[in-house]
Amino acid sequence: MSARSADWYKDAVIYEVRVRSFFDANDDGKGDLRGLTSKLDYLKDLGVTALWLLPICPSPMRDDGYDISDYRNVHPDVGTLEDFRIMLDAAHERGMRVIMELVLNHTSDQHPWFQRARSAQRGHPDRDWYVWSDDPKRYKGARVVFKDFEKSNWTWDEQAGAHYWHRFYHHQPDLNFDHPTVREAMLAVVDHWFGLGVDGLRLDAVPYLYEREGTDCENLPETHEFLRQLRARVDALWPGRMLLAEANQWPEDAVKYFGKGDECHMAFHFPLMPRLFMAMRLEERRPITEILARTPDIPTNCQWALFLRNHDELTLEMVTADERDYLWKEYAKDPQARLNMGIRRRLAPLLDNDRRRIELMSSLLFSLPGTPVLYYGDEIGMGDDLNLGDRNGVRTPMQWTPGPNAGFSSVDASKLLLPLVGDPAYHWQTVNVSVQHANESSLLHWTRRLLHLRARHPAFGRGSTVFVDAGTYHALAFVREHEGDRVLVVCNLSRYTRPLTLDLARWKGAVPVELFGRVKFPPIKGGGYPLTLGPRGFCWFALETA
Ligand code: GLC
Repeated sequence: MSARSADWYKDAVIYEVRVRSFFDANDDGKGDLRGLTSKLDYLKDLGVTALWLLPICPSPMRDDGYDISDYRNVHPDVGTLEDFRIMLDAAHERGMRVIMELVLNHTSDQHPWFQRARSAQRGHPDRDWYVWSDDPKRYKGARVVFKDFEKSNWTWDEQAGAHYWHRFYHHQPDLNFDHPTVREAMLAVVDHWFGLGVDGLRLDAVPYLYEREGTDCENLPETHEFLRQLRARVDALWPGRMLLAEANQWPEDAVKYFGKGDECHMAFHFPLMPRLFMAMRLEERRPITEILARTPDIPTNCQWALFLRNHDELTLEMVTADERDYLWKEYAKDPQARLNMGIRRRLAPLLDNDRRRIELMSSLLFSLPGTPVLYYGDEIGMGDDLNLGDRNGVRTPMQWTPGPNAGFSSVDASKLLLPLVGDPAYHWQTVNVSVQHANESSLLHWTRRLLHLRARHPAFGRGSTVFVDAGTYHALAFVREHEGDRVLVVCNLSRYTRPLTLDLARWKGAVPVELFGRVKFPPIKGGGYPLTLGPRGFCWFALETA
């Protein structure tokens, strides 16, 4: 693979892929690693530079593999460790990195560690791998995350004769990070996957590692201390590898996962995501600019991960109660779409399948400060299925062709792991890769062009960001700049054509060149630069010297 630049994640375009839903190479109805390998050229051509694989370890699959029963292996449904190595090599040969899940907060209740713990005597070190209590009222400051499914974070275990602690499903007992052997075991898991050549790890549910009475049991100092140890080990043994925090937190707490540049390299910007949807609906920039203004600067070796949609519900935890009501009212009219504290829908259905809004949202994902994470299928505008339980409606098979099973598998349709999206507006016979590949005006072609344009401008991944007044709150404009590379992004969030007046005095003399068509615009002469954008229009310009 090409020379490793230590901070490759800053220029990356990450593609989040559910291996089980991507491509089925052995025709058992479930996607697998060999299937993913066979589709790497598609992803490379799209402009993807890193893959993030949803869980692939052995698991009873009661939380889509986030309930792990063996951290060092691959679930037989998706293949073998050898298949994994082959996929990794093939990705590396194409210059693509691979990011895996590190589910460190909890295991499956089927994990041998838990089986051993529940049968061990009180006081025995094996028992202490998990968090036990006689009193299910401890740590009552901690919220229940999966509130539609669980009433408490404690569950009684008959065999152990005690309650055990879990922040998610009751079948996912939390590991006890106060136990040194647990921390060592997790570091050994990190060594295992980095040793195989994996480039990055997403630290699942990382805020919840420790429990302390009188707190909400999130973001505790002990968690950050563990992350510093983890990072020190990565720097010493695995330079060039990346840690990505899944911390669904307010900006001031989320930035703590970067530490002083000595914890995680990346962290998801959870509060920005729902505000992008809010800005779309309100047709004004304030939700975006306000949350970015509230976001502290981050260490220079760190980077935000930005996303519009992922494998979970569109979480509304990081908004105020009023904002949540608004977003629920606007984006989840169908009560079936609501789940826990969020909305279980894909991007296209959230945006009423409106191509302009999809493009506008994508233009923001790919230009705001951070590394974009694209959810599989969103590049072709896949729909979802609210009839499927939990979050399965957004995890249906990738739609490749108009042929049987959308080209995902040649098994009998009744044996598919999840049904294909049959909703007429998103039907797999029309919404699929091959139909869109043949049509130069398709969303797929458009997305590909966007990714390729981004790749030409390091300012998108690395640049400083200066917001520009556009004369109306309906528009969002900003300049990104990195070592002489300058891009200007202008968006009209409103449904009507708008005249804008951009305050570009700082860039007097520069010539805006529109990136899609390389069309030169009049040079910037001073203060008010006039520009008219159509409904939900956006423009990306390079600011070139005359
Ligand atoms: C993370 C995952 C989610 C999973 C949960 C529990 O939030 O994104 O899918 O259910 O952790 O592991």
